[in-house]
Amino acid sequence: MRVIKSVKSIQQFIKKAKAAGKTVGFVPTMGALHDGHRSLLRRCRRENDIVVLSLFVNPGQFGPKEDFAKYPRREPADKKLAKKENVDIIFIPTAKEMYPAGYLTYVEVERMTQGLCGRFRPGHFRGVTTVVGKLLNIVMPDVLYLGQKDAQQAAVVTRMVRDLNFPVRCKICPTVREADGLAMSSRNQYLSAGQRKEAAVLYRSLKEARQSVAAGNRLATVIVGKIRSRIARESSGRIDYIGCVDADTFMPLKRIQGKAIVVLAVWFGRTRLIDNITVQA
Ligand code: PAJ
Repeated sequence: MRVIKSVKSIQQFIKKAKAAGKTVGFVPTMGALHDGHRSLLRRCRRENDIVVLSLFVNPGQFGPKEDFAKYPRREPADKKLAKKENVDIIFIPTAKEMYPAGYLTYVEVERMTQGLCGRFRPGHFRGVTTVVGKLLNIVMPDVLYLGQKDAQQAAVVTRMVRDLNFPVRCKICPTVREADGLAMSSRNQYLSAGQRKEAAVLYRSLKEARQSVAAGNRLATVIVGKIRSRIARESSGRIDYIGCVDADTFMPLKRIQGKAIVVLAVWFGRTRLIDNITVQA
């Protein structure tokens, strides 16, 4: 496994590998790797000759009052895990390597970034699409692996890839969960023991929503109302949003039709958790 820090060296390496006919799969992350990241790496390993993992806590996607400074940084443990998963290259750039002095260029996907996390985290998706766009030009992968856990991010990045003709295929991998259903996240470690227990209400309420759709309920207000009351009843979580959106466009739905996603963001103390479930009407 090679650890590469500079854009130039990784581009050189990838160009050589491609000239030799190798396929390249890419898993971008912010590190503090867990089993969710690992499932992406394993699929990437199965499907490609070369596996590239990036670790970069991207300052551009954090708001001024968000957790950039305290976001967990676990480089040694991440390297160990990557080695175990047979990663070929870990790309670990510095902020200066990615955003050198004089940096002025940003990628923005319109409309579908306005709602949900986009509304509560202004500038977040612009930061994500800018860094992923840069990483795609740096790593030049054939396949990009993203998690369904961050459903809006996956939809926005897929839109960017289509709209800007990045020559890469996006594959969205299922959410990996803890035994009690809580979606794995690098942010779960911020939770106190009590909050950690309470947070399982998120997936319980999403599963209930799926059952409710299967039983014939179609109205978003009804489905959202049920989730809202369950979270209030069973936890101290503070809700940012709960909504039903179209699976591709992420536009809000009043009635569930076809493939939809029920999405939510809820605070437990100072930790904001997101989760979602796909539903089919
Ligand atoms: P990060 O939160 O580290 O997540 C990296 C990738 O792992 C994302 O595609 C995310 O959706 C996926 N992932 C996280 N938790 C998961 C889980 N429980 N199950 C399955 N997949 C999961 O998302 C980011 O980093 C950044 O925004 C990034 C795309 C790297 C751009 O900076």
